[in-house]
Amino acid sequence: MSIHSRSVLVTGGAGFIGSHLVDRLIQEGASKIVVVDNFFLGSEHNLDDAKRAFPDLEVIRLDASNLSAMQDVVTAHQIETVFDLATIPLPTSLTYPHFTMQTNIGITSTFCEIARRGLIERLVHMSSSEAYGSGRYVPMDEDHPHDALTPYAAAKSAEDHILRSFVSTFGIDATIIRPFNNYGPRQNPGSYAGIIPIIVQKVRAGEPILIHGDGEQSRDFTFVRDTADFAVTIHDTPECRGQEINVATGVGTSINTLVTRMLEIMGKPDHPIEHVEERPGDVRRHMADVTKLSGLVGRQPEVLNVDALAETIEWYEKTL
Ligand SMILES: NC(=O)c1ccc[n+]([C@@H]2O[C@H](COP(=O)([O-])OP(=O)(O)OC[C@H]3O[C@@H](n4cnc5c(N)ncnc54)[C@H](O)[C@@H]3O)[C@@H](O)[C@H]2O)c1
Repeated sequence: MSIHSRSVLVTGGAGFIGSHLVDRLIQEGASKIVVVDNFFLGSEHNLDDAKRAFPDLEVIRLDASNLSAMQDVVTAHQIETVFDLATIPLPTSLTYPHFTMQTNIGITSTFCEIARRGLIERLVHMSSSEAYGSGRYVPMDEDHPHDALTPYAAAKSAEDHILRSFVSTFGIDATIIRPFNNYGPRQNPGSYAGIIPIIVQKVRAGEPILIHGDGEQSRDFTFVRDTADFAVTIHDTPECRGQEINVATGVGTSINTLVTRMLEIMGKPDHPIEHVEERPGDVRRHMADVTKLSGLVGRQPEVLNVDALAETIEWYEKTL
C-alpha cells in the first residue's frame, strides 16, 4: 500500500511536523493531498514550499474534531489515507485542560469513526512520547506504562487507547506513530515554542538562556524530516498495521549538551546561562527504545547531528 498515487489527508498539516510530512508526500508522488488545519497554531507559510511544488494542494480551515465536517472532506476528496497530526499543544493544556483534552480526544475519535464507517482505508495517528511520562526505565519501549504527567499527555494516552480499541473491536487499519522530541525548521517560534527557537531568540536578544532545573534532563531529539520520512515508510509497510511504534533515535541528549552545541554553532560559546526552577510536570528522562522500528522497517532515524541543528538554527535566524 504505497503512498504513491494515493489520495491523502493530513490533519494539522500546516503545523511543524505536518508541513514536513506534506513535503514528503509530494516527493513520494501522492496523487491528492488535502490539509485540514484550524490554524490554532500552524501557519500558511509552513506550506509555501509545498504549494510551489504541488499547486493542487488543498488547504481547508476546519476543526478536525468535527465528525460531520471531516466525513464530508474525506468523501468529497475520496481520501484513502489519513495522517492524523492535529493537536492542541501541551502548554495550552496547563491553562485550558478541558478544552485541550476534549479537542484532542475528539480529533482521534473522529478519524477512528470515519475508518470504522469504511470511508478511508488507512489511518496513521501521531501519538507522543509524553504519554509515557518520566521514564520508569530507559530506553522506553512501546510496553512502557503510560504515566501521563499533564492533561495533554493524558489526552495523548487516551487517544492511543481509543485507536487500539477501534483496531481490536472493529478491525480498522490503523497505526500509531510515537515520536519523541522533534526539532527542525518551522517549529512554532511564538509563545508555544520548543527549546531550540527559544535559545536562538535569547542569543539574538543578548539575554541569558534560562535552563529549568539542573539541565541534565535528557530528550531524544529527532530531526523533523526524519519523522516525516518514517511516517511514510511506516504507512507503506504492511507489517506496521495495527502496531504502535516509537519513532526516534534511541539516544538521549541533555539540555546542557544541546545548549552547548547550539552556542558553538552560533559562535557564542560564552553566552550566559541561568538555571531557574523546574517546570511542573517536566519529564526527567526521555529516550526511546527503537528496536521495534528497526525490526519493522530495517532502519532508524539519525542521532542529533550538527548539520540538521545548524540548518534549524539558520532557519530561525532568518525567520525570527
Ligand atoms: N513536535 C514534537 O516534538 C512532537 C513530539 C511528539 C509527538 N508530536 C505529535 O506530532 C503531532 C504534530 O505536532 P507538531 O509539533 O507538528 O504540532 P503543531 O502545533 O506544530 O501542529 C499541530 C497542528 O494542528 C493544528 N490544530 C490544532 N487543533 C486543531 C483542530 N481542532 N483542527 C484542525 N487542526 C488543528 C494546529 O493549528 C497546528 O497547525 C501531534 O500529534 C503531536 O502530539 C510532536
